[in-house]
Amino acid sequence: MNLKKIAGFAAAEEIQDGQIIGLGTGSTTHYFIEKVGMRMKEEEINVMGIPTSYQSFLLAKEWKIPVTTLEEHDVDIAVDGADEIDPNFNLIKGGGAAHTLEKIVDYSAEKLIIIADDSKIVNKLGKFPVPLEIISESRKPVFSALEDMGANPKIRMAQYKDGPVISDNGNFIVDADFREIDNPIQLEKDLNSIPGVVENGIFSQMVDQVILGTSDGVEVLK
Ligand code: A5P
Repeated sequence: MNLKKIAGFAAAEEIQDGQIIGLGTGSTTHYFIEKVGMRMKEEEINVMGIPTSYQSFLLAKEWKIPVTTLEEHDVDIAVDGADEIDPNFNLIKGGGAAHTLEKIVDYSAEKLIIIADDSKIVNKLGKFPVPLEIISESRKPVFSALEDMGANPKIRMAQYKDGPVISDNGNFIVDADFREIDNPIQLEKDLNSIPGVVENGIFSQMVDQVILGTSDGVEVLK
């Protein structure tokens, strides 16, 4: 059973004709974008997407979903994935290094739906290291600040190229292991106050609904 597909396809059924959709990034939103593309073809609905990465831009193109920008349109609904989801719907995102644009688009949306397989639900955030996009020149002072905050930071290294992952915006990605995060709302603010940090992967107080793929089918949390 493909739980990511179950969640992604279910979220695509929420989309209504004429909507402007924030297109999240990752392996779960991949199914969402695919199903939106299918619905456009089969049901002749007209929507436009605002991609959150090159990945979602290319997928939108593949499925013939017209793309637009935040300059042109307001976002009616954004659908995005997550690496961890806590009971208050605070998230860790950025496993795919796309959290900066994801946060901008998700924050702008009238409604934000998070889609995931049920393994992403946790009691407390922090087992998954918090991704930070940083300006490369700031590495040393950012590492010092993160260590002072109790984290173990690492530059994310690329798998299919030598050297570090470079984000869609041309920056380094740091994965900061905090182990357990007691106050995600405060940590999100504190991380963004370190000079050199472009954006961090904690998304607090933004989510309207979570659609989970489970072995029993779709579960909707509000
Ligand atoms: C992209 O940078 C991330 O925020 C993803 O949305 C998140 O990592 C979830 O990805 P999967 O759907 O691939 O698990």
